[in-house]
Amino acid sequence: MTVKIFDTPEVQDFLNTVAGLDQDSGNERAKQILHRLLSDLYRLIDDYDVTPEEFWNAVSLLNALGHGTQFGLLAPGLGFDHYLDMRMDAQDEARGLAGGTPRTIEGPLYVAGAPEVHGRGRMDDGRDSDGETMWLTGQVRDTDGNPVAGAKVEVWHANSKGGYSFFDPTQSEYNLRRSIITDSQGRYAVRSIIPSGYGCPPDSPTQQLLDLLGRHGQRPAHIHYFISAPGYKHLTTQINLAGDPYTFDDFAYATREELVVPANRFEDQDAIARRELDGPFSEVTFDIELARTDDPELQHRHKRPRAKEDEQDQASQLAGTAKV
Ligand code: DHB
Ligand code: FE
Repeated sequence: MTVKIFDTPEVQDFLNTVAGLDQDSGNERAKQILHRLLSDLYRLIDDYDVTPEEFWNAVSLLNALGHGTQFGLLAPGLGFDHYLDMRMDAQDEARGLAGGTPRTIEGPLYVAGAPEVHGRGRMDDGRDSDGETMWLTGQVRDTDGNPVAGAKVEVWHANSKGGYSFFDPTQSEYNLRRSIITDSQGRYAVRSIIPSGYGCPPDSPTQQLLDLLGRHGQRPAHIHYFISAPGYKHLTTQINLAGDPYTFDDFAYATREELVVPANRFEDQDAIARRELDGPFSEVTFDIELARTDDPELQHRHKRPRAKEDEQDQASQLAGTAKV
């Protein structure tokens, strides 16, 4: 038998108490947001007649996600990262700050503090025997087409198995992670290896939830970027390599038409010899346009907990109650 109790004064009073609305201490924004969140969930339980078994199964799944530190992996799959991007795009539009290369999601696998190189460098440690050599090059320009010298181009990507250093303990420290400072022509050029697509671990609670939705947990081969320079809006973006079965079917919804880039393969001996390589290689070119801003706040990446970044800052943020 279906009963509905959500709209009764008893339940509404109870929600106010649970969210601490009758308490002087605590954080007002946290109370408002928790009150709204709990109200929506209570209403859902009523509307869908959620059984105790279903509720406790959900709790168990949340525990498993937390135990595996997988909320950051699940969030892109549930579209939250892309939704936040859509909001930032709309804010840029409203402020007259649209333009330049489009942003797309950061993902959960950035690590701060990668080695810095000037103009050129190498990102891979040479130990991935399945990794085909990739030359990744491009130019950073402003929206009028002028080169931006001295821009910081942070790049990170997966190896030939789809794993990221730091999170994959079999890889050397900062493998496939570099911070490149552009040369006087705004150019960067790094030797690396072609990344493979990434898949959520098949037995993970993240995949378990995606299975319930009838969805895969695959991403196409992709390369992440942070690009910054004084006087320009910080850009978080990534490129998806063309021709991957998942290029336009990304479980994390990061694909944007302008960010799909081909990897051009060279097999002729002359090209190989000119690069001083001993086998075929691919070239990937990604030019970046930055929008101008005088607002110092917009010149830096937004704050969020990240591996090896501001460990002190993070600890105080987590301990505080200012942010939900
Ligand atoms: C996920 C993994 C990535 O490499 C990425 O770029 C975005 C999301 C994930 O596991 O959710
Ligand atoms: Fe990624």
